[in-house]
Amino acid sequence: MSPRRLAAAATAAADGRMLTALCAALCWRVLLQPVRAQVDATALVRIPVGLILSPDSRQMNASFRYGLRNLAPSSSWQTHWRLDAVTEFTDTGNSFDIERAICRELETGIFVLIGATQTSSFPTMQSYTDSFQLPMLTPGSPAHHSVEEQDHYQVYMRPDYSTALYDIIRYYGWDYVYYLYTCDEGLLNLERLFILMGPRSNTLNVAARFLSPDNSTASQLLKYLNDADDKMALRRIIIDSRSLESTQRVMDLLADANMTTKYYHYVIASFASEELNLQKFGHEGANVTGLRILERSGRALRDFYNKGDWEGARQESSGRGGASQHKLMYEAALIYDSLRVIHAAFSRLLEASPTALKRHLRRGEVYNNGSRGIGNCDADRVVPFEAGNRILSTIKQVSLENGLSGNIAFDEHGRRVNYTIYIWEYTLNREKTKQQFKFKCVCG
Ligand SMILES: *[C@@H]1O[C@H](CO)[C@@H](O)[C@H](O)[C@H]1NC(C)=O
Ligand SMILES: *[C@@H]1O[C@H](CO)[C@@H](O)[C@H](O)[C@H]1NC(C)=O
Ligand SMILES: *[C@@H]1O[C@H](CO)[C@@H](O)[C@H](O)[C@H]1NC(C)=O
Ligand SMILES: *[C@@H]1O[C@H](CO)[C@@H](O)[C@H](O)[C@H]1NC(C)=O
Ligand SMILES: *[C@@H]1O[C@H](CO)[C@@H](O)[C@H](O)[C@H]1NC(C)=O
Ligand SMILES: *[C@@H]1O[C@H](CO)[C@@H](O)[C@H](O)[C@H]1NC(C)=O
Repeated sequence: MSPRRLAAAATAAADGRMLTALCAALCWRVLLQPVRAQVDATALVRIPVGLILSPDSRQMNASFRYGLRNLAPSSSWQTHWRLDAVTEFTDTGNSFDIERAICRELETGIFVLIGATQTSSFPTMQSYTDSFQLPMLTPGSPAHHSVEEQDHYQVYMRPDYSTALYDIIRYYGWDYVYYLYTCDEGLLNLERLFILMGPRSNTLNVAARFLSPDNSTASQLLKYLNDADDKMALRRIIIDSRSLESTQRVMDLLADANMTTKYYHYVIASFASEELNLQKFGHEGANVTGLRILERSGRALRDFYNKGDWEGARQESSGRGGASQHKLMYEAALIYDSLRVIHAAFSRLLEASPTALKRHLRRGEVYNNGSRGIGNCDADRVVPFEAGNRILSTIKQVSLENGLSGNIAFDEHGRRVNYTIYIWEYTLNREKTKQQFKFKCVCG
């Protein structure tokens, strides 16, 4: 059969809705077997992966480029393919900008999106990806979104850490903690913690306090924390703050108020805790407990550095604003892991069905239901991405043992399962502060 006839048959089969999925799969096999050898070995199929990032997220930009470079072209059933970037840099805190970025991605045409948005603009991202049935991976957390309802198209790379907080409280046997939070998300996290604790939550007293972003409530709050009748009373304080910057601000406020002595024990409820500057705390005797998702001494991280020139990629991707941090930060690691998940998913998809994407790729362009791109945000009617469901379910089935963030597997709602959170502590050790491994929480 000539390639042209094959293509015609393929289109006919694709458009012929009377074929059942099973028959279609069988027919493909039959049609393909004899001509496999004729497939042009030099043709490289590019699978476009969208990325929406803030221009400030330099390290995530770098790890994305580095990941694309390292995931060399692959072959599945004589299809030579590789992942290709379609990037949009925009203010990820602004829903309007996010909307425009995602519409441009949809128009260009991508098979899957990686979106690092903020909590405020996430609903916009969710509603577009759900309507167009476009799978999306995010380094964000599933904790605050309606994950349980069906038909969502998001996959969350960041594991939920409520279980780890619960383990920390149990480990130390605390019955009274302060909970400092800097945005509404904090209260939702606290609620999840109570749900996890179940009946045990009756034995834990929590004093939750809000710290406003402009520091206006700070002096009142610090006074409250310090005003305990017993100055020697130990204060256990959980700090729930979204970004590295806002967490650092809280720690600086506490340090300014000299709340760095041995009467304080802080738990930083964030995977960014390792990236904080906590010098003052260790030196004056306060305990600081933090969470980590990356295995710093693991094989995955070693492989990451050995794969190529990370240093070069980091500098090259820095844009105008100067180079990003040296140390690999956890969100950048999650972007890298996302690419590996996507790569594994497409390998699997093309292994199972070599023509799975054929009708959606013509001359290097993405097509959905016969039109270029995935969709148009201004159109009266949304045509969902025909391959969306299949790609999404393949992504959720991916299982990788050696991700930078450890074992990677998802449940049916796209949340991480079977992952490990490392719990570390700053301790005063012969005049030197040292970060020490404390225990780990195998969660999910
Ligand atoms: C809040 O306090 C911190 C720590 O002293 C400081 O770094 C930050 O600039 C302050 N923020 C505002 C908005 O005043
Ligand atoms: C913190 O300690 C320093 C030096 O011991 C002192 O000068 C400063 O006034 C203290 N700050 C507060 C808020 O108590
Ligand atoms: C800090 O850690 C040490 C050693 O684990 C412990 O003895 C001390 O009570 C802790 N401090 C607080 C305020 O919990
Ligand atoms: C992202 O990385 C690429 C190359 O690695 C660089 O050319 C580009 O300027 C970076 N974008 C931003 C916004 O930093
Ligand atoms: C796909 O396009 C055809 C016409 O080309 C149209 O009849 C059909 O409704 C479209 N499918 C969807 C889901 O909109
Ligand atoms: C959980 O992860 C470990 C590796 O961390 C792996 O050996 C094990 O098979 C996984 N279990 C399941 C049920 O996926």
